[in-house]
Amino acid sequence: MCGIVGCVLKENRDAAPILFRCISNLEYRGYDSVGLATFDNKINVKKAKGKIRDVNASLNLENMAGKYGIAHTRWASAGRPTDENAHPHLDEKGRVAVVHNGTLENYSKLKEKLIGEGHTFKSTTDTEVIPHLIEKHMDEGLDLEHALRKTVEMLKGSYAIVAMCEDEAGKIVATRKDSPLSLGFGKEGYFVASDTPAILEYARDVIRPREGEIAVLSKNGIEIHDENDKTIERKPSKITWTADMAKKEGYDYFMLKEINDQPLAVKNTLGQKNNMKRIINEIGDVKRVCFVACGTSYHASITGKYLIESLAGISCDVIIASEFKYSAKTWDEDTLVVFISQSGETADSMTALRQAKQTSHTLAIVNVAGSAMWEEADHVIQTQAGPEIGVAATKTYLGQLTAIYLLAAAISGNDKITEELENVPSYIEEVISKADEIKELSKRYNFVHNAFYLGRGFSYPIALEGALKLKEISYVHGEGYAAGELKHGPLALVDEDMPVIVIIPPGADYDKTLTNLEEVRARGASILAVGSEGNDDLKSKSKEMISINPKVTDIIAPLVYTVPLQLLAYYVTVEKGYNPDQPRNLAKVITV
Ligand code: M6R
Repeated sequence: MCGIVGCVLKENRDAAPILFRCISNLEYRGYDSVGLATFDNKINVKKAKGKIRDVNASLNLENMAGKYGIAHTRWASAGRPTDENAHPHLDEKGRVAVVHNGTLENYSKLKEKLIGEGHTFKSTTDTEVIPHLIEKHMDEGLDLEHALRKTVEMLKGSYAIVAMCEDEAGKIVATRKDSPLSLGFGKEGYFVASDTPAILEYARDVIRPREGEIAVLSKNGIEIHDENDKTIERKPSKITWTADMAKKEGYDYFMLKEINDQPLAVKNTLGQKNNMKRIINEIGDVKRVCFVACGTSYHASITGKYLIESLAGISCDVIIASEFKYSAKTWDEDTLVVFISQSGETADSMTALRQAKQTSHTLAIVNVAGSAMWEEADHVIQTQAGPEIGVAATKTYLGQLTAIYLLAAAISGNDKITEELENVPSYIEEVISKADEIKELSKRYNFVHNAFYLGRGFSYPIALEGALKLKEISYVHGEGYAAGELKHGPLALVDEDMPVIVIIPPGADYDKTLTNLEEVRARGASILAVGSEGNDDLKSKSKEMISINPKVTDIIAPLVYTVPLQLLAYYVTVEKGYNPDQPRNLAKVITV
């Protein structure tokens, strides 16, 4: 998610230093470009690709005249990170400046129409259609506020938009849909921001405008208008968080915030459906697929193998990136090699990508626009999880899984599965609502030194990922197994001191997994079942049970059943007194 700030100051002083300070408060997320627009008789814009500090060093963003303005830090999604794609974006005449967060699904059609009407575009972003649409509506006689309202009526997708226009000096307008926005009332002036931490230094009295409302900021205050132009009276809430707490939106750690971000990560990534279809059409006949990845991304890839083989009926391999070179020669031009990576920078995956490009089509599924894999793969899909700060991958994992379901649907031509995915965000929300229950449960597990995670079929990668989450942040040894493998060795380790977490959603593998559960139960293991709500038989056979919405069957279980395991690992870690965001010896990006 990008960062937005806007402010109108009460006193006669320049807004740029304050805007710069506010936007710098979001720097910790690692954005790829930055820009400011201020008004001083006319709109002035400074923007460029790069980190906030570096861009400031070259453009002196802090030194711009004007008592009000808007600022943006970009996390590239539609369009690569370049100077031209950095916000703010302007209309044809350079009178309207706009910053935007979110994704516009119908921007290509709007852009085409505007080009037909004589508008010219400088960037490849979706955002740039917004100032041009505002301009068009203002040329038709509307004021800025109503031109913005008419513009958003034409937009499909998610947005937080902040705009200003030379013709209406002293005013900033803002609105939102499916993207956060806060209005701040401060001593020095009035603020709008995508993230409260950005403005906390200047404003602690905050209102969150609702969807459909337009906020109008001036030096006299902030007015909020509903769809019928009625002025809304709403009392600001006092924010008591420290700046650090606010960055985490009140959560104790980024990991917990990011677990809570997951419904949106899935929803937004589903918006990549048409891009995925386009890529698969461009490639043509795919006869074989090979996933290449490391760590958590490797676990997402295993789900991909099961999906592609069952939906598309074609052969699919999964290879750990560092092992790719040993089988690289077997791939040919009918093979699609898919690289899964949240960072898009992992060294082993990059080496494999360069090798794969020599023989096969390559597709990178990455979360970071402009990353090495994004640049080098033949095709790219960006997961829409937004910046992930915690070292443990959570929302990027669910974003990867969502993109992989879209891939399987595109290759197989079977759209039914993507329809089912529409409900997944609400299923995840239901799981997250059980966080307190899982927290209590974690207290009964925080003394353990080892744990087994078992699953079959689609639940096997869930077991692997649950175990990885536990070991990497809590330093408890967790091991994931295909449930059927247990009797081939690991069963020897099972006794009363070994907790066994069994992932057992309803579906084709249920009975067989239950047999495996009985095997470990007979050895006295303490069983934590993760199964369907209302399954009393399962409950009676387990010491503990986490119940999941009964509608979630095995094929979509990876997107839902993983979440309680993330929460369990998180709470065990916090209970032990460790910081889940920064596990020892690990890094977010592994470029060696
Ligand atoms: O950036 P990548 O997805 O390529 O990183 C691969 C692994 O290092 C990564 O998934 C790692 O396993 C996770 N951070 C663990 O939570």
